[in-house]
Amino acid sequence: MPGLDIEAYQKAFEGEIEAVDSLQALEELKVKYLGRKGILAQLTGSIPQLPQGERAGFGQRANIFKNRINLLIAEKQGALIPQGGPYDLPAASGVDIGMPGYVQEPGHLHPITQTIDEICLIFSRMGFSIVEGPEIETEYNNFTGLNIPLDHPSRDAFDTFYLKGAQHLLLRSHTSPVQIREMKSTKPPLAVVVPGRVYRPDATDASHLFMFHQVEGFLVDQGIRFSDLKGILEVFLKNVFGREIKTRFRPHFFPFTEPSAEVDISCSICKGAGCSSCGQKGWLEILGSGMIHPNVLKNVGYDNKKYSGFAFGMGIERIAMLKYGINDIRLFCENDLRFLRQF
Ligand code: PHE
Repeated sequence: MPGLDIEAYQKAFEGEIEAVDSLQALEELKVKYLGRKGILAQLTGSIPQLPQGERAGFGQRANIFKNRINLLIAEKQGALIPQGGPYDLPAASGVDIGMPGYVQEPGHLHPITQTIDEICLIFSRMGFSIVEGPEIETEYNNFTGLNIPLDHPSRDAFDTFYLKGAQHLLLRSHTSPVQIREMKSTKPPLAVVVPGRVYRPDATDASHLFMFHQVEGFLVDQGIRFSDLKGILEVFLKNVFGREIKTRFRPHFFPFTEPSAEVDISCSICKGAGCSSCGQKGWLEILGSGMIHPNVLKNVGYDNKKYSGFAFGMGIERIAMLKYGINDIRLFCENDLRFLRQF
């Protein structure tokens, strides 16, 4: 091959690259032409020996040849590397295909929402419908309609946030006012559960929040008896806490139920023997319940000679704490992902 004949080298190169069929052969060809001791280096290295007048033109043609080599090598490389797939981005696009992408972590429902859903599902399987009521209530629905006159001492137990400037409006202190709303608008028979937020001006500590959740339940029909209440609550509590737990109905007082009972379950930790979780009692208080007071039935316009019913109400945070062994109610509203991710 003529020592300095660029055109002849170019022809030779084009023939050789045409025949290349592997990345390895391509690399060898690249070294042959562009390597430190390659043909292009020889050509440019010989420039000082050329007559003065030929040097610039020769250098230019060598440069054009070099660009041609680079172009054909890049093309050949593109043809030899498998195409397609999500990572086939042109290197020149400025996208760093080695950089990790943004991972969108799927979220999940809050443990309180999960507990509410579980409770509502159990009752809806037993034929209860699910209803909600407003968090701002009237004094009448929250107290008076429920047989709690404003001067009644039991009203102290429901310390209440009253709305400034709005007469007779308050943040409901329990979900029981939805009994009044629902019974006023629906004729018996009816069976309803009501999940929702309630508010009480309690100082916050490991077992108190000024806002928490309750689920209310009530059923009205002809011939409803206390044994119906016991049966429904027993099925419910065994569904939530397991078949082995025992239930206990303890006489209590609520103005809107008569008779009234607080319901306990046997302590799931010590199985009733007594431990620090249940205060050595072997029992854990779970909810309030009773037969709807005849005055309440009368207040909503029901014939209390013909109809009877039962009602119950439970704190959701308390149920979730017992179910999952959580010892501080504040964890539910601190939005700490280390806590929330466990559910
Ligand atoms: N409303 C009562 C409370 O908040 C619970 C309850 C509801 C009791 C229905 C009896 C019947 O403590």
